[in-house]
Amino acid sequence: LTNIKDLFREKEQYKDKKVTVGGWVRSNRDSKNFGFLVVNDGTFFEPLQIVYGSEIENFGDIAKIGVGAAVVVTGKIVETPGAKQPIEMHAEEVLVEGPSPADYPLQKKRHSFEYLRTISHLRPRTNTFQAVFRVRSLAAYAIHKYFQERNFVYVHTPLITGSDCEGAGEMFQVTTLDLENVPKTEEGKVDYSQDFFCKPTNLTVSGQLDAETYAFAFRNVYTFGPTFRAENSNTTRHAAEFWMIEPEMAFADLKDDMMLAEGMLKYVIRYVLDNAPEEMAFFNQFVDKGLIERLEHVLSSEFGHVTYTEAIEILEKHNDEFEYKVHWGSDLQTEHERYLTEKEFKRPVFVTDYPKEIKAFYMKLNEDGKTVAAMDCLVPGIGEIIGGSQREDKLDLLEKRMEEMNLNKEDYEFYLDLRRYGSARHAGFGLGFERCVMYLTGMGNIRDVIPFPRTVKNCEL
Ligand code: 4AD
Ligand code: MG
Repeated sequence: LTNIKDLFREKEQYKDKKVTVGGWVRSNRDSKNFGFLVVNDGTFFEPLQIVYGSEIENFGDIAKIGVGAAVVVTGKIVETPGAKQPIEMHAEEVLVEGPSPADYPLQKKRHSFEYLRTISHLRPRTNTFQAVFRVRSLAAYAIHKYFQERNFVYVHTPLITGSDCEGAGEMFQVTTLDLENVPKTEEGKVDYSQDFFCKPTNLTVSGQLDAETYAFAFRNVYTFGPTFRAENSNTTRHAAEFWMIEPEMAFADLKDDMMLAEGMLKYVIRYVLDNAPEEMAFFNQFVDKGLIERLEHVLSSEFGHVTYTEAIEILEKHNDEFEYKVHWGSDLQTEHERYLTEKEFKRPVFVTDYPKEIKAFYMKLNEDGKTVAAMDCLVPGIGEIIGGSQREDKLDLLEKRMEEMNLNKEDYEFYLDLRRYGSARHAGFGLGFERCVMYLTGMGNIRDVIPFPRTVKNCEL
């Protein structure tokens, strides 16, 4: 089979040549003596128009091919100057590999995203989702490329773990115990000695702690894998299963961390604009008007920087506009994050140095004793897309912090060892990959940028 992408991209080479393509029918119209099959083969955003004439012996059967059918078509590529598309195919042979009856759930009309979520196995055959999932794939590749070109080692951190990196208790438990008949100890507690791992375990909320261990061997590392949060947030930005990219650098501080993050985001934006021009033009026209111009603007300007304390001063002046009023010490809600990035800075912005009380135990305490060397990167339309920090590298300070937060030190011995043996300043961050794809495409709901979304009360397919 020839890729439809090659037919479009290298049309001179295929002009008047006979080729075979295989794909799925988007539409089929016929009149008395000829008809048009529009076929998408997934290699290119644009489908190929195929003209078939009544001289083909099974003309009557071809005219009946239903939308969604899988076909293999052989024919000549013809240039069509002035037409909407530069080429079309004149069919010589049309074979139906798998028919699609009239109850095919995708018809040639606009379906709502809500409806398409109910058929997440078929939605990648639509324009929008072809575009989303190609951009998602390219963005993932670009991120690997960015880190690999900079000598970062890709570390595969485990998904099943015994620790809670974020200390927020938002974990999915993993167990082989029979929930209908949980074994109990004499004291009436759950008897984990009968469990597979002989202790409570959960799906990871972040690969950071494991990544830190490898950073103290390879200096610069990154993870890129699924993470899980049993966060009961039914929003357009939260999923229970999402992918996270977590670089970690030894001999680096918060400034280095922000430079890496800004460089990475710009690299990914550039990469998808260059490598998915048709898809990005589609988003720009149908999903989020002005998207391309905004992304280009991000590429040509520097991200904003503001401390948490300064941000609170800005936000307090607008407290009457917010559902949740802020004061020093409050966690920033999405409405505040969006205010900062959309109204105040009008571009991506790093908020740094949050109060230690609202951040995780591993963040490095600043000299003021009140704030930590944290950074969140906020972007217009979404809010937080990245969360990162310089890590506490002093054993005594880390232990003190863990005690204050009632963490069980035995569960983190490996992590404390890193501060015992060859500790170095280090920093890293986590980019929520779905939020990144939302930002790149202008799509407004996290359910529409991950192939099979898992959200509160929803785990279909
Ligand atoms: O800010 P978070 O919780 O940071 C961490 O997990 C750190 N351990 C990262 C690190 O320093 N290595 O999560 C990081 C990012 C968020 O900024 C957000 O983009 C995304 O992960 N994220 C979610 N995305 C979708 N659904 C959820 N429920 C998410 N929770 C976090
Ligand atoms: Mg965060």
